[in-house]
Amino acid sequence: MLLKTDNFTKHTHRTDKLISVRSAVNNPFQPGSDVVPAIWAGRTGQLSDWRDVLRPRLVAGLFERGRTVLGEPGLGKSSLVRRIADEAERRGDWVTPQIRLPLGVDPVKRIAAETLKLADKAGLATGREQRVAGLLGRVQSVAASGVSLGLREVDGPEPHAALTELLVEIGRAAIARGNVVLIHLDEIQNIADARALSQVLIALGDAITRKVEVEVPVVGLIDRSLPIAVYLTGLPEFDDATGARKGATFTRRFKTTTLAPIDDDDLRSALQPFVVSGWEVADDNGGVRLVRMEPDAVEAIVEICRGEPFLFQLAGERAWYAGSGDLITREEVLRGWRGAQAEATSHVERILVRLPQRELEFLQAMAKLPSGERVLTRIAAEAGFDKPTDAGPVSQRLDRVRGIIERGKPYSFRHRAVEAFLTSDWPDIG
Ligand SMILES: Nc1ncnc2c1ncn2[C@@H]1O[C@H](COP(=O)(O)OP(=O)(O)OP(=O)(O)O)[C@@H](O)[C@H]1O
Ligand SMILES: [Mg+2]
Repeated sequence: MLLKTDNFTKHTHRTDKLISVRSAVNNPFQPGSDVVPAIWAGRTGQLSDWRDVLRPRLVAGLFERGRTVLGEPGLGKSSLVRRIADEAERRGDWVTPQIRLPLGVDPVKRIAAETLKLADKAGLATGREQRVAGLLGRVQSVAASGVSLGLREVDGPEPHAALTELLVEIGRAAIARGNVVLIHLDEIQNIADARALSQVLIALGDAITRKVEVEVPVVGLIDRSLPIAVYLTGLPEFDDATGARKGATFTRRFKTTTLAPIDDDDLRSALQPFVVSGWEVADDNGGVRLVRMEPDAVEAIVEICRGEPFLFQLAGERAWYAGSGDLITREEVLRGWRGAQAEATSHVERILVRLPQRELEFLQAMAKLPSGERVLTRIAAEAGFDKPTDAGPVSQRLDRVRGIIERGKPYSFRHRAVEAFLTSDWPDIG
C-alpha cells in the first residue's frame, strides 16, 4: 500500500514537471493589450514608412506630413504606433507615451503636460534662456488649467500657439542632438469639441510645418523643417470630422492610412519561430525550455483569426492554455478556440453595432449574395435602397473610410472576420 502511494506520488510529480512548461506567466500571446505584443505580425509597410521615409527625411531637415492611422477596433492601430515609438526610443529619439484622449477631457491640457515632459527630455527645463522659461511657464498653466481657464485672460498668444512655440524649441534641441521627436495621440475620434480639435491640429500642424534657420558648414544658413513626427491613431469616425472642424490645412499636413487586416502569410511568419526553433520559456528550475507548434496548429490559428490581430492573439492565448506539453497541437488550438468563441463574437459585434443602420444593412445584403454576384445594383436591391445610386455613399464609406469592403468587380470583403461572421457559422468551427 505504501509503495503504491509512493509510486503514485512519483508519477504525479513527473506530470507536474510537464504541466509547468506552459503557464499564465510565460504565455507570450497578449489579446487586448496596447503594449507591443511579443508575437508581432506584418505591418511591414507602416514600419518601413517610419524607418525608410519619415524618420530619415525628418533627420535630413525635410518636411514630412504627420501620419493618421485609422481602423476598426482591434486592428492594431495603437500597437503599431507603440512599436514605432519603442523603436524610436531605442535609437535615442524623444517620444511621448500613448497620449490617450478620453471623451470629454480637454486634449490641449493633456498634450501640454506631455510636451512639458518632452521639454524635460530635451533639457529645456534647465536652460537659462528667458524666452524659453517664459514659454515653459505658459505651457505649464495650460497643462494645469486647460484651454478654457488657461491663458485666455493673460496677454499673449493663444494657448495652442504657446504649445507650438515650445514644440519648436524642442525640435531645435533635437536638431542639435541629431534625433527626432515623436508625438502619439490615441483615440483621436474622442475629441468631440470642434474648437479643441482644431486647436490640437493647428498646434501640431504649425510645429511640423515650421521652418527654422540652421548654420550648415561651407553652405551657410539654410531653412529646414523640424524633426517632429506626429502620429494620430483612432477609429475611422475621426474622418467624419468636417474639414472646418479639422481646419482647412489638415489634409495638407497629415497623411491618412486605414489599416486592413493582417495577411495570412504575415501571421504564418509570426508563428514560424514556434515551428522552427521553438519559443523559449523559463522553467521552474531556472532553466529554459522550448515550446513548439505543429505546422497544422499554425494553420489552424491563421484560419480561425481571419487576419484580425486581436483574434490572432486570442487564438494563440487559448491554444497555449489548452495543453501543457512542449508541443502546441492543432487539436489544442481548436479546443482553445471553442472556449474563446463568445469573446470572438463580441469582438465582431463591437464593430457591427457601431455602424450606422444603412451601412450594416448594406453589409448584411452583401453577405447574403453569392460572392460572384456582389455588384452595387444587386446589393442595393437586396438592402432595400430605392435606387442603386442611393447606396453609393454608403458603399463608399464602407470602403474608403472604414476599409471593411473593397468596391472591386465584384465587391468583396476586406474585413474577413466581419465577412466570416455574416456569411457562416464562424466563430463556431464545429
Ligand atoms: N501587428 C500585430 N501583430 C500581432 N498582434 C497584434 C498586432 N497589432 C496588434 N496586435 C494585437 O491585437 C490586439 C489589438 O491591438 P490594438 O489595441 O493596438 O488595436 P486598436 O486598433 O488600437 O484597437 P482599439 O480600436 O480597440 O483601440 C492587441 O492584443 C495587440 O496585441
Ligand atoms: Mg487602440
